[in-house]
Amino acid sequence: MLKICNCYRNLALCLIILYSCSIYLPEYVPKKDSFSTVEKHDPSNLTLQFYKEISTNFNSPIKIPSKWAIENDIEFAEKFYGIFMGGAIPCTPDMIQTVANKKQYCEINGTNPNGKLIGLAFGNSYAMNIATAIAANPLFEKVILVFGNGATFPDHGAFDKYLIEKLIKPLKPNVIFMVQKYYYFQKHLYKTPINKIRENKEFKNWNKILKIIQNFTSAIIINKEQIIFDYEISRDFIRRKINGLPIEARLKNPPQSPNLEAWLSSLNCPKCQFFGYREAFCDGEFCNVLDLATGLPLFRDSNHISPVGIRHLKPFIDNAIHKALNICVL
Ligand SMILES: *[C@@H]1O[C@H](CO)[C@@H](O)[C@H](O)[C@H]1NC(C)=O
Ligand SMILES: *[C@@H]1O[C@H](CO)[C@@H](O)[C@H](O)[C@H]1NC(C)=O
Ligand SMILES: *[C@@H]1O[C@H](CO)[C@@H](O)[C@H](O)[C@H]1NC(C)=O
Repeated sequence: MLKICNCYRNLALCLIILYSCSIYLPEYVPKKDSFSTVEKHDPSNLTLQFYKEISTNFNSPIKIPSKWAIENDIEFAEKFYGIFMGGAIPCTPDMIQTVANKKQYCEINGTNPNGKLIGLAFGNSYAMNIATAIAANPLFEKVILVFGNGATFPDHGAFDKYLIEKLIKPLKPNVIFMVQKYYYFQKHLYKTPINKIRENKEFKNWNKILKIIQNFTSAIIINKEQIIFDYEISRDFIRRKINGLPIEARLKNPPQSPNLEAWLSSLNCPKCQFFGYREAFCDGEFCNVLDLATGLPLFRDSNHISPVGIRHLKPFIDNAIHKALNICVL
């Protein structure tokens, strides 16, 4: 390359090659072994305390402890990367039951002793990701969480049956949360032409299932599309912290799917309300990937949120709950 570039006549060609390289080179994707330079050790008490504070005490704003150092940033990001996809559910593995086709079941107590409502949250890792934030809404006495890696609902199978027959009908949860990554429905949700949605078989099935469920609950909260970045935010954060490199606080808003939006807004479900990830993290062209108050990452990987990010999403979940239940919160 250098040799070609040395030749004056080839300068233009060279510039073109360099330019196209800069377009086609993939963005840096941190590899697992960018980690191995870090000595593995248990997180310090300061990090652990802060982690606990962040994932339980939703009512007070996050404040970085005064002795917090770069080491704690790294420990913190490593800690939430390691467990429950960035979620901080209080159900330890020994409290989790396995139900219907390897789905996990756990109960999370509400944080308000006067909470009255029962919530049922189900879906895949995203449902697990936000369950503590739901339970921290003072309306709830308890939130039941049923999740599975890659689980989809409706699944035309055991998961539908279990949720409807074993949980929704007998329990009549006040609020149902259907929270999932739509990647697993890609074929239908992202690809169905907008004017064909209403005649799509899977769409009709969603409406059918939602109609059944609506008979046994007051509200159904459904997530809109997740934001999916090109690389793992907290891995990149750790790498840059270790190497003293500047950290991107904002990334370009990844493209959204109008087909998926149309699918969700076409559902025939008067009790449904939606909450969006973009509303919580993005404004127009850019999305925040760092929490400005603490400098900590809002995302665990390219798409799951971190315990810090969950706090940013929580007001949007609360809003959807209050709207669905017709509650005016001052
Ligand atoms: C960290 O906390 C544990 C348990 O509370 C305690 O036993 C230990 O001494 C603490 N370590 C330090 C370095 O403060
Ligand atoms: C949740 O509340 C129940 C009943 O009040 C209690 O028995 C149980 O230990 C609590 N679970 C957790 C994880 O705190
Ligand atoms: C909903 O409940 C009503 C009244 O209890 C009943 O007539 C209707 O069949 C139910 N619909 C579904 C879809 O279960």
